[in-house]
Amino acid sequence: MADLSVFKCISCYKEYDIQEIRYRCECGNLLEVLHDLKAAISNPQKWKEILDSNMAEIAFTRYKSLLFPSLPDASLITLSEGDTPLYDVTKSFPQFNSLKLKHEGMNPTLSFKDRGMVAGVSWANYLGCENVIGASTGDTSAAMAAYAGSAQNMKGIVLLPKGKISPEQLAQPISFGALTVGIETDFDGCMKLVQELTEKHNIYLLNSMNSVRIEGQKAIGIETLHQLNWEVPDWFVIPVGNAGNISALGKGLRELYELGIIDKLPRLAGVQTESASPLFKSFLNGYSKLVPQKAQPTKASAIQIGDPVSYRKAIRELKHFDGVVESITETDLMDWKAQIDRLGISICPNSAVAVAGAMKLRDAGIIKQNEDVVVIITAHGSKFSNTAVEYHQDERNKFANQTRGVIPELSELERILKL
Ligand code: F0G
Repeated sequence: MADLSVFKCISCYKEYDIQEIRYRCECGNLLEVLHDLKAAISNPQKWKEILDSNMAEIAFTRYKSLLFPSLPDASLITLSEGDTPLYDVTKSFPQFNSLKLKHEGMNPTLSFKDRGMVAGVSWANYLGCENVIGASTGDTSAAMAAYAGSAQNMKGIVLLPKGKISPEQLAQPISFGALTVGIETDFDGCMKLVQELTEKHNIYLLNSMNSVRIEGQKAIGIETLHQLNWEVPDWFVIPVGNAGNISALGKGLRELYELGIIDKLPRLAGVQTESASPLFKSFLNGYSKLVPQKAQPTKASAIQIGDPVSYRKAIRELKHFDGVVESITETDLMDWKAQIDRLGISICPNSAVAVAGAMKLRDAGIIKQNEDVVVIITAHGSKFSNTAVEYHQDERNKFANQTRGVIPELSELERILKL
């Protein structure tokens, strides 16, 4: 079964056995996983038809021949991730032909990271790895800790930038039993350390530079298209931090197209904040180079990343999908978060970056009035409740909904309620 997949360098194209524990090529560049999809899915039209009768399966299993055909079913570690809602919010935003939100915050650990972790931790389980590790801005660590906790005989270790993640994000790895280390640095500093550590010691790295995780994350785009009955939208808009997710989205859509399961390609838009926008700056210079930056504090703390590891993969997908990269302000992201939250759809500040980006691109006429747009919501608002409470308590904010306090008197309550 494992002969269906190989690691291949994205730069020099050297191939490695999929059973090797390896994250980079000898030339230093990242690897990607390639599958013999023609062998895994010999009849794509039939595969498509069978999917509908397979809805009882979890998403990873349903799409497994596209995601990771080499993984034996017996090694699967799942928390029933996937099958997340695709909300149609067009009525609230008629400036779009259609606007849909793919809510990946409705996964077991409340972020899209579960999609990659089902692949990554299952593969670690298959390889017999006892120790797994990830550096994180808070969501990778939560997902890794949960899946490692769910596997037998697997210990999770997480490296976090101390004081830079939300209390809810911190509560997750601790509760799931991972060894949790706060480091006096930023995410990029944690990422550097985790690479040094895993080069030296026998600990399996589960950051998205491990290309096995990218394969699991392809499910987000594939499932969205399945929900859309394979009608391809004009745009996918997605927030970008370490750039793994946009790479996964592109790879999955590319493979669907190559198999003839979809008949057109959407465009991709990656969005960053002004505080951490290395990919945006690279886009402005025609992707001629990446200038790593010291990422500044932002409400979108999960994407406060100045040196994205999957940069080369991301620009390859952006070029292939006629993509654009946008950057937005802190005020925009919090105001758009408030407007989506008000619809009863709780989104995190990082996801709001993508929403704000979609709005900015629409205002600029890059996204056209007659186009269909899907925005990827990457985590649930409840993982970042402080940002919402702070926003709504401050009356200077455009959509603030302040709480009121009263003494326990009916007349006082009536006064406040204007009755
Ligand atoms: N949205 C959320 C909620 C995230 O947690 C992340 C990344 C992203 C967007 C960006 O995705 O890095 O693939 O471009 N979080 C990582 C983490 C870095 O450690 O949890 P990306």
